[in-house]
Amino acid sequence: MFLTKKEQEMCDGEYGETIRKSMDILVALGDIYGASKLVDITSAQVSGVSYKTIGDAGLEYLEDLARDGSGKATINASLNPPGTDLDNWEELGFPRDFAIKQNQIVDAYAKLGISKTCTCTPYLVGNVPRFRDHVSWSESSAVAYVNSVIGARTNREGGPAALAAAIVGKTPLYGFHLDENRKANLVVNVSTELKGADFGALGYIIGKVVGGGIPYFKLQNTPNNNDLKTLGAALASSGSVALYHIEDVTPEFNLNSEDEIEDIMFISDKEISETRQKLSTTDKTPDLICLGCPHASLEEIKQVATIVEGKTIKNKLWICTSVSVKATADRMGYTQTIEAAGGNVVCDTCMVVAPIEEMGFEVIGVNSAKAANYVPSMCGLDVVYNDVENLIHFE
Ligand code: F3S
Repeated sequence: MFLTKKEQEMCDGEYGETIRKSMDILVALGDIYGASKLVDITSAQVSGVSYKTIGDAGLEYLEDLARDGSGKATINASLNPPGTDLDNWEELGFPRDFAIKQNQIVDAYAKLGISKTCTCTPYLVGNVPRFRDHVSWSESSAVAYVNSVIGARTNREGGPAALAAAIVGKTPLYGFHLDENRKANLVVNVSTELKGADFGALGYIIGKVVGGGIPYFKLQNTPNNNDLKTLGAALASSGSVALYHIEDVTPEFNLNSEDEIEDIMFISDKEISETRQKLSTTDKTPDLICLGCPHASLEEIKQVATIVEGKTIKNKLWICTSVSVKATADRMGYTQTIEAAGGNVVCDTCMVVAPIEEMGFEVIGVNSAKAANYVPSMCGLDVVYNDVENLIHFE
């Protein structure tokens, strides 16, 4: 891979150890994937935050990098969800030892200049690249959103690579950064109107079929931004989709004409409803309803507040979101309405990266196909998959 004089000096350690280590990662990646050079980025989103997934080894690595003090993020860079609500872990019942380690991890990232935004929907809270910007994002649902809905360009980066890119301000130019790799290879013709959890079911079906490919959807109705984040999260979890196009909706849908794509698939309401059923692992009543995967928008919190207003919820209810979105929900009175009904608006974390298996829950109700896919394997708990209004039970 071609390096400029300054980049070579960074590799040689002339700008400090943190930058040298970061360049090592980026150059190794570039060499593996045949990148021609490094390209400037405008934004990074860094995963590998929960103590549940990175453990003591990850914490040690980050503290070493932060202690060195020679390198910090040079561009807008934000963190993925950690394993706790950073401010309210105690009152929500998170294990103390876990929460202490978790705060140390987030503090180490902050010393490296990665903002404590702590969300998988950074595009809702100020980390919003422009169309065709090169970026380095690592949370798979966020990658699908930023590539597909915003039209910025990123590969599905690992946490260390996104951190390295944030510090150097560059990433290797290959894969989804190039026009020729952003063309669709499967047309998905959907013959039924979709709403709510149907979008997750569609993403789950197509992710399994297309793997790391690029689907091109023809839909009967226009999805909103919440539907798009649900669809992308499901595609990225059952497959490894990083980019999808929707006819007349997403900005690069006409990068290649539909006629150039050989493979066509037809999806009817039969496949959608069968998949919705298959995503539940039990028919028991959930003891925790966990919404906000990917992290909830203000509209989604408002929707829940409207459903529960003046009632008492039987099961426990968490709506996971970022601290920034919750601040607005507080001002609008949505949080108070949800809390009065017995629910919680939980910041930073989510049902997959939190240690919910240690918190006494057995069955989790979700409206996200990504969560339905991961909770059984990552937490060992059963899930019920449905729309919000069908999940919540009242006294
Ligand atoms: Fe976000 Fe957690 Fe879902 S990181 S996409 S809420 S699994």
